Amino acid sequence: MESMIETLPGQYRWAAELAQAEVPAARSALICGMGGSGISGDVAAAVATGPVFVHKDFGLPPWAPSLPESIVVAVSYSGNTEETLSAVESARAAGLPVAAVSSGGRLSQLATDGGWPLIRVPGGLQPRAAFGYLAGAVVRLIEGAGLAHDVGLDEAASITATLLGDGLRGPGRRLADDLAEELAGRIAVIMGSGLTAVAAYRWKTQINENAKSPAFVSLLPEADHNEVEGWTTLGTALRRTVGVVMLRDDSEPESVGARFRPTSRLLGEGATIVGEVWAQGTSRLARLASLAAIGDLVSLRLARIAGVDPVAVDAIQQLKQTLGES
Ligand code: F6R
Repeated sequence: MESMIETLPGQYRWAAELAQAEVPAARSALICGMGGSGISGDVAAAVATGPVFVHKDFGLPPWAPSLPESIVVAVSYSGNTEETLSAVESARAAGLPVAAVSSGGRLSQLATDGGWPLIRVPGGLQPRAAFGYLAGAVVRLIEGAGLAHDVGLDEAASITATLLGDGLRGPGRRLADDLAEELAGRIAVIMGSGLTAVAAYRWKTQINENAKSPAFVSLLPEADHNEVEGWTTLGTALRRTVGVVMLRDDSEPESVGARFRPTSRLLGEGATIVGEVWAQGTSRLARLASLAAIGDLVSLRLARIAGVDPVAVDAIQQLKQTLGES
């Protein structure tokens, strides 16, 4: 997994250098995908300048056909994910144009046969380790549709290259190792807001899949209206079992920034506050990519501490086999 994460900066660069995708101009987009593929929809929605929605389920939301001049973007690294193929089927039945991002499988075949715009990402990786390819390709597609501009893929490449460094020995590694030492043996709660909410979700899923550990996301300002009550009655035993990391961004609205510290003080009554990580960079994409890269490193360190293989996803594969997907 280390060697896959090392390719992240090159993945963003690859996407930056793609020829402009030939997609019809659209006034909105609906990105459909699951897991390590689906998160590229969240990234696209976070950097878009027009309405971009994300769907992680079978079929399409009931309102999808009434979106004005919309395009459905199906993202599946394997190309064989049941929910994503079902979304494609529903989109075709509703007469919506479809574009695809995949490394192969049935989705690539359908796109080729149907003459739909298709960005083929390099294969041979775990989907979650192809984050830069997938997010980069989806962002390029919505850019082609006129729903994003100057997204910052080059900056995402250079910032992640600096953070990860040669052989993953860059400054991000030290920060991530320190956080992981504190998080080890605890259930991680990753707190974010707006742009950093997407990174928080990436941290959660990377900790789940790489470190085989439970992790949850907590979102501000919403958590201040419910979750903060939930932490107040936990005793010291539980306090040791939960570790909170806050993902911050210089450009977060003051109204949100002002909530992090008092919220963490309240949370600190029931959980261990492990630390804060600040986004780096100028563009929204680079800031998100910087936080995601640190989260990847944290998950790898947690895997090492726990002595688990970060690559294997036996439970996911077992489920897919049971459901006849792979
Ligand atoms: C595995 C992973 C999973 C898959 C998900 C969907 O590394 O991250 O979350 O991404 O099961 O599969 P694909 O991406 O092939 O559509």
